[in-house]
Amino acid sequence: MGSLQSIELKNKIDYNNIPEHVAIIMDGNGRWAKKRFLPRTAGHNEGLKRVTEIVEVATKIGIKYLSLYAFSTENWKRPQEEIDNLMKLLVHYIRTELNKIHKNNIKIQTMGDISKLPKTPREEVERAIKTTENNTKMILNIGLNYGGRDEIIQGVKNILKDINMGNIKEEDINEDLFLNYLYTKGIPDPDLLIRPSGELRLSNFMLYQIAYTEFWFSDILWPDFKEEDFYRAIIDYQKRDRRFGGI
Ligand code: IPE
Ligand code: IPE
Ligand code: MG
Repeated sequence: MGSLQSIELKNKIDYNNIPEHVAIIMDGNGRWAKKRFLPRTAGHNEGLKRVTEIVEVATKIGIKYLSLYAFSTENWKRPQEEIDNLMKLLVHYIRTELNKIHKNNIKIQTMGDISKLPKTPREEVERAIKTTENNTKMILNIGLNYGGRDEIIQGVKNILKDINMGNIKEEDINEDLFLNYLYTKGIPDPDLLIRPSGELRLSNFMLYQIAYTEFWFSDILWPDFKEEDFYRAIIDYQKRDRRFGGI
């Protein structure tokens, strides 16, 4: 961190046009490990170090919301050993980083059905949410057992429940109301979506929220994703002409 190149890039950032919400699909850990003839877990370990760095950098440059895709509804298809390892890493992350996150006034939130996580990671995640609930500098929104389709379906079910209970009427349903039924309730849509690893797809990430998000794809594997790559993404974003359907 803090290389000459990253300092130069950092100086090119327009601080009047920082994306309010940045979302990242952290991908490529397995391939990073494979290239080094290491087990996939080594890639996940290295990827976790990038999480710590990027959270710090994002806070420093004034990003208000950082959404990180950590575990998808489809990732349960992976071998149990890899799932167990990812859950252990989540616990490790909270145990080693929570104090610092809290001290830095960062609020941890999650998206996804965390009730399906194993007990220890679930309890640690709940503790992290509770500890940081009143923090205001940045929201770190972590996708855990998250899927965009699952989110929309849960939202529809909850709307139906509220209609049946008489809390809302069918004619109340509109885009503003629907936002309250998503995991991202209270969080504005992402301005910038970053996907490293060379894949040009969304893999079920924030399908509803990214209608007008700017995409930044890169071949860099997540464990290689450095501070300067984050700055590059932001500088590129700042050159985009966001029209939202207007002229
Ligand atoms: C991203 O890296 C981490 C998670 C999905 C949890 P991958 O494990 O998907 O790495 P690749 O895509 O196989 O390289
Ligand atoms: C997306 O990566 C999920 C996370 C980063 C948590 P995947 O590696 O699961 O996506 P696919 O399988 O390549 O689409
Ligand atoms: Mg992957």
